[in-house]
Amino acid sequence: MKRIVIFGATSAIAKAVARLYAKEGSSLYLVARNPEQTEALARDLKARGAKEVRHIIADLAKLDDHAAIVASVKRDFPRIDVALIAHGVLPNQAECNRDVAKTLDAMTVNFLSPVSLLTLLANEMEAQGSGAIAVISSVAGDRGRQSNYAYGAAKGGLSIFLQGLRNRLHAKGVAVITIKPGFVDTPMTAAFKKGALWAKPEQVAKGIVKAIEKRRDEAYLPSFWKWIMFVIRQIPESIFKRLSL
Ligand SMILES: NC(=O)c1ccc[n+]([C@@H]2O[C@H](COP(=O)([O-])OP(=O)(O)OC[C@H]3O[C@@H](n4cnc5c(N)ncnc54)[C@H](OP(=O)(O)O)[C@@H]3O)[C@@H](O)[C@H]2O)c1
Repeated sequence: MKRIVIFGATSAIAKAVARLYAKEGSSLYLVARNPEQTEALARDLKARGAKEVRHIIADLAKLDDHAAIVASVKRDFPRIDVALIAHGVLPNQAECNRDVAKTLDAMTVNFLSPVSLLTLLANEMEAQGSGAIAVISSVAGDRGRQSNYAYGAAKGGLSIFLQGLRNRLHAKGVAVITIKPGFVDTPMTAAFKKGALWAKPEQVAKGIVKAIEKRRDEAYLPSFWKWIMFVIRQIPESIFKRLSL
């Protein structure tokens, strides 16, 4: 029986991951902001076969609360098999251009908050000497684009932080997995026109669980995004800066 803790557990992608673990009979610890949605998810997971479901309601932008949240999780789950960090926001880049506070808010939720949680979790999991930490970054972090560089910079910084953490924890028996989804049809992207490159949260969730199981370093999801981003990264900056992306 695995013990799984999920931060941002009511995200559409995280919910789909939680359901897969519930089906296996795992115990889950949900950390999320919306009480009604979190309680409904906890009931749903129990009905699907989860051995035990606990939860904490928290605004994860409040960094000062993180130490108490992680301590509370550790008290109830002395061994954590999988920690998944899933929360995030997609800010409007045009609003960020006009308003520094909006940029900084997006940086707090998408970068500082995961970094703060990872610093606390890494120490716990290093001491335990086992387990996996998976974090949802994004393909947007692979290259800065005018349409979403506040979001992309936070995710890019997060991916680099995870590289360093993986390097530190590899010898300690803890896997660090960077998840890089492409376009996923979730509430975050509700306003976007969908096309052939779009995936469903359930499809991405299967890829996340598989990447954790195989202790992969990085997973582009769906996997074709690996090749799309490979090509995008090769475009010289002198050309890329002229493109309207
Ligand atoms: N959808 C995509 O195309 C896509 C692509 C690449 C990466 N991602 C990443 O995938 C992850 C999951 O997103 P999603 O697509 O599943 O979207 P989603 O359903 O909108 O989930 C985002 C979640 O983040 C939570 N959240 C935001 N700010 C928070 C805060 N301050 N404290 C606690 N929770 C907070 C939201 O909680 P509330 O419900 O309470 O607001 C929501 O549950 C995010 O990290 C996102 O950046 C998504």
